[in-house]
Formats: sequence, C-alpha cells, structure tokens
Amino acid sequence: MSNEERNITWQTSSLSRQDRERFNGHRSRTVWFTGLSGAGKSSIAFALESYLSEQGVRCYVLDGDNVRHGLNRDLGFTSSDRQENLRRIGEVSKLMVDAGLLVLSAFISPHEEDREMVKQLFEPEDFIEIYVRCSIEECERRDPKGLYKKARNGEIPHFTGISAPYDIPKSPSLIIDTEQYNIAEAVQQIVEHLQHIGALNLPVQTDSALTY
Ligand code: ADX
Repeated sequence: MSNEERNITWQTSSLSRQDRERFNGHRSRTVWFTGLSGAGKSSIAFALESYLSEQGVRCYVLDGDNVRHGLNRDLGFTSSDRQENLRRIGEVSKLMVDAGLLVLSAFISPHEEDREMVKQLFEPEDFIEIYVRCSIEECERRDPKGLYKKARNGEIPHFTGISAPYDIPKSPSLIIDTEQYNIAEAVQQIVEHLQHIGALNLPVQTDSALTY
C-alpha cells in the first residue's frame, strides 16, 4: 500500500541533516559491523565510540544484545526475525544519521540479503560495512557469554556458526581480523580507514594519541 493510500505524509523539519552535521563539525554516517558472535564487534564498536567521543565526534553504538532488550525484545533468531531485527535497526540507524550522528551498528547480521536490504536504505557513501573476521573455532574458544557451549549442547536453536549460517561479506569496505589484531589496533585501522574514505576528518594523530 502506498503512503498516500495509508494517509501518511512526510513532515519536514526546519533543520536539515546538513545543518546538524555543520553544528557537530563532522559528517554523519552508519558504520555497520558484521561478524560472528564473539568476533569482537561490540568491543571494537564501544572502544571506537570512546575514542571518537574524546575527539569530539558525536557517535552512538547500536548493539544487538542491547537493542534486543527493548525495541526488538519481541524478536528471536529465526531468519525472518533476524530480518525484521535488522530492518528496524537499519531504520533507526538512518534516523540517527539524519540526526547528525556517526552511528556504530554492531549486529551479527548473518545473511547477505539482509545486509543488502539495510544498505539499500542509505545513500552509498552513508553506509560503511566492516567485516569483523574471526574463525568459528576461535569464537568458540573465546565463548565470552558461554553461548557456544550451550548451542553445542542443543540448548540454543539457530545459533550462528553452529546451527545457522553466516554469509561472509563479499565486498565490505574494511575487514578487521581479530585473530591478528587487538582492539586498540582495530580502532586505529578503522579510524584510518574512515579518514581515508572521507567519512571522518580528524586532525592528524600520532599513534600514541590513540588511547581511550
Ligand atoms: S542478528 O543475527 O539478528 O544480527 P544480533 O546481533 O541482533 O543477531 O544478536 C546477536 C546476539 O544475541 C549474540 O551476540 C548473542 O549474545 C545473542 N544470541 C542469542 N541467541 C542467539 C542465536 N541463536 N544466534 C546468535 N546469537 C544469539
């Protein structure tokens, strides 16, 4: 049904996204972290949030576990629930970009077609996909929440990497390998990448300034 048929019209603010970006002194974007549970998405996103906030960048982490406490508490882990989870998060991320924020969205987002659906919500330069790569063996060894153990025991259905698939991203903007690099190194690689593609415009930093 079209919006007209649904009697819905878009209401326009007197402030534009460009105004908000100007007030904040930086561009707004969505940086989307995808990867297995335990790969390090949330740890990296929160560390990046701390670092960038210190630099005066207004950013916010949307995290899978956290969003499922509230907005998406009605959703589970079937393919259709994950799709709806990511559709809502995509829309929330888009609103936050309009609000002038650098949004750091950390979700397993295992299906290529769901990530593509989210990507299509944005202008190409507004959506930056980062694949947080870590082998299933290493994620299972880390098992920070004890969920892999439960999944192996058959206590968690549709567990990504065990009883549900993960589609490796075909052409992410950046790959961070957390079996090779620690969180500080990952943050540095991401900041450099965001600077390189023009998504961030921070003053040039020395390595030693990268503390958070
Ligand atoms: S997504 O697949 O829909 O993108 P999301 O990132 O929101 O997943 O949530 C993943 C988190 O939910 C995991 O880090 C883990 O803590 C928890 N979880 C609970 N059940 C599952 C499951 N079946 N598969 C993967 N993660 C699960």
